[in-house]
Amino acid sequence: MDKFVIHKSSLKGSVEISGSKNAALPIIAATLLTDEECKIHNVPCLSDIKIMIKILEVLGKEINFEKNTLVIKTKKKKNYTAPYRLVKTMRASFCCLGPLLAKRKKAKVSLPGGCIIGTRPVDLHIKGLEELGAQIRVENGYCEAKAKNLKGKRIYLGGPFGSSVLATANILMAATLAEGETFIEYAACEPEIENLALFLKKMGANIEGEATPLIKVKGVKTLGGCELEIIPDRIEAGTFIAVSLATNSPLEIKKANPDYLTSVMEAAKKMGASIDVSKESSIFIKPPRNLNPVNITTLPYPGFPTDLQAQFMACLSKAAGVSLITEKIYPDRFMHVAELNRMGALIQRTGPYAIVEGRQNLYGAEVMASDLRASAALVIAGLGAERKTQVLRVYHIDRGYDRIEEKLKKLGAKIKREK
Ligand code: UD1
Repeated sequence: MDKFVIHKSSLKGSVEISGSKNAALPIIAATLLTDEECKIHNVPCLSDIKIMIKILEVLGKEINFEKNTLVIKTKKKKNYTAPYRLVKTMRASFCCLGPLLAKRKKAKVSLPGGCIIGTRPVDLHIKGLEELGAQIRVENGYCEAKAKNLKGKRIYLGGPFGSSVLATANILMAATLAEGETFIEYAACEPEIENLALFLKKMGANIEGEATPLIKVKGVKTLGGCELEIIPDRIEAGTFIAVSLATNSPLEIKKANPDYLTSVMEAAKKMGASIDVSKESSIFIKPPRNLNPVNITTLPYPGFPTDLQAQFMACLSKAAGVSLITEKIYPDRFMHVAELNRMGALIQRTGPYAIVEGRQNLYGAEVMASDLRASAALVIAGLGAERKTQVLRVYHIDRGYDRIEEKLKKLGAKIKREK
């Protein structure tokens, strides 16, 4: 297993943001809605994307991935089972269920199972598809669904923690080929859903209201092939904002689409950073010498993303004062607290809250990455800490960050990948 060896660094220059992982994954699944060829550009080269490609190959697609473009064709022999050995490694693969069911009338997708950031149920996915008329059986770890004809309906998709991104994606995809009109109430408004809706519209779907909590879908008979560019990864861009704050380094973050990052830039400004955005989608950030403490609450978009909570916690560990972080999406997403404390941070967790008492310096240690975003937080902490930090199990970071150490090195970071 690889590890990162990191030393305190001062960075400068510009970094280019890759395509969004969370937009690309459901869009790749959406190609199951057609037998025609689809081309998807600006796809990041990540292990999660490679897993999704493997799943689609099992399901009867022929895929070529070169220079960040995916060309997806359909083989003669099709399948409708997404096996456990692949699905267990990535939850997003569950969003093959909706398109498989809509196009091939039956689907068998392994249940994704537990996750280090807490329980992650799929009840909303199942409820939504059942309301469209699917018969669903959960047995032996698999979710088996069939439906002769899906029928449009008014579906309330809110859960105990608000909207669900992938449940919205699953129901939206299934509804494109359902008979009549579907209204998805309490739909997720994330930019990744908007990107998916654009892809579906290019395929010929009839969708209104994406990026709002009420999406209206008028079912069509068939969908065709199309071409689309994946939006920039707002979580990667936000991670580089955190890198800048933690290392006191001015950075230009290119191809970031600042419109997706208002809540994050707002937090950075409250911490004392000055931020400018350009028409060409760049973010220029100049951090203050000493970070102000700030209170952060994670919420569905356009609120502060849970996927940046850990990275900002790493920054706030060095702020001049006490910050309160409230996690409203995944109340148990705090595995990084103990690791940051091993680096000298003073963080106390109680339930969905973390109280972060900032201190001037963190100190390098050997720390363990527990999940994708937590590993990014440890890298950020390491770049701003005195002495050597070793982050173990960096395969987590490879799931979601395209060439992270290459990008950091180009900015001047002292980071090395070792076996
Ligand atoms: C997506 C993102 C993930 C991000 C999360 C929240 C992808 C591939 N992943 O995950 O990076 O952290 O959104 O922004 O896009 N819930 C239920 N029942 C369900 C589904 C979800 O109760 O059937 C709950 C979850 O436990 C959680 C909340 O709803 O508390 C939001 O989760 P959801 O938006 O579904 O996360 P994902 O779509 O899986």
